[in-house]
Amino acid sequence: MLYLDRNENNYGPAPACFEVLRTSDLTQLSWYDRSFTRGIQGVLSERLASDFGIPEDRVVLGYGAENILKQTVRCYLRPGETLLVPAYSWWYYRKIASEVGGRSVEYPMVQGEDRFSYDLPGLLEVAVREQPSIVFISSPNNPTGNSLDVGDLRSALARLRSSVVVLDEAYVFHTRTDYVRDLVQEYPNLIVVRTFSKYFALAGARIGFALLGSNLGILATHMHRYLGYHRLSEGLALAALDSPGYYKEIAEKMERDKLAYYAELGSIPGWRVFRSDANFVLAEIPAGCGEKLQHYLLEREIAVKFMAEPLLRSHVRITLGTTEENGRVIDAIKAFRP
Ligand SMILES: Cc1ncc(COP(=O)(O)O)c(C=O)c1O
Repeated sequence: MLYLDRNENNYGPAPACFEVLRTSDLTQLSWYDRSFTRGIQGVLSERLASDFGIPEDRVVLGYGAENILKQTVRCYLRPGETLLVPAYSWWYYRKIASEVGGRSVEYPMVQGEDRFSYDLPGLLEVAVREQPSIVFISSPNNPTGNSLDVGDLRSALARLRSSVVVLDEAYVFHTRTDYVRDLVQEYPNLIVVRTFSKYFALAGARIGFALLGSNLGILATHMHRYLGYHRLSEGLALAALDSPGYYKEIAEKMERDKLAYYAELGSIPGWRVFRSDANFVLAEIPAGCGEKLQHYLLEREIAVKFMAEPLLRSHVRITLGTTEENGRVIDAIKAFRP
């Protein structure tokens, strides 16, 4: 089965990651990493702090971004309080709010001809009305693929001073650190969440991290790891960070393959493929053909995500695979007769 339904990276981790596992001395696993004797959490938080130029105690590590998002909600959302989420967004945001008795309220996002975009005035209007404890912004957003540019993000942050703002960057298609460092320095209520799952192709190693604004000390205390992190996962993450060329090449291939998706699937009558900054594309397909297409693709051992949200009933989200896999998907879909 070709899995293109969970936004993983089918190119696999960098060769240096394989080397980490081949050369690891497993007897080391008998012991905690002794980084705590140096007053830090571990070698990975130390490296991320140095890369992003922020103090090590404002870096938190988690079992995937998923874990960090959940802990953040548990820390800052009381029963009956409000969490804002984009109208089209990952279902998990609403789930973790409901787990603590919180309310999720949506803010609008605009569906244009060939791309989705954030609606800044719409977001701020809902924020003024709802006085949320937490605002989630996902950039690029899952499942719509659009980003919020840093200028607009700053405008939003300037007006959202009394909420905790969670910027979920799980799908950033680069390793840029500059604007993140500036943002967490300027906005004390901001938390930027990233992961090694997508760009770095390490979803199974479950490594996420976040950078915290200076007012989020409670979350830092809540999440700090006093006995260190997972030693093998740290090694994998460090090897991935040391392999920028490998990942840049994959990102470039994916950018080219997205153009093929826009052109090829976009030319099928009734199909519309939205521009994406992430490792997946969202397409609107002719109403009523979803079930048949899903069955047809599964017969060809291709799994993509057929959306079930009320606003996205005729939409399919396709994770980018390797160039060869993408060609296979495009050929299969072009040969489909509704
Ligand atoms: C928007 C978004 N954030 C975070 C995650 C979770 O990432 P991780 O694998 O680091 O838990 C996902 C996973 O699909 C996602 O879609």
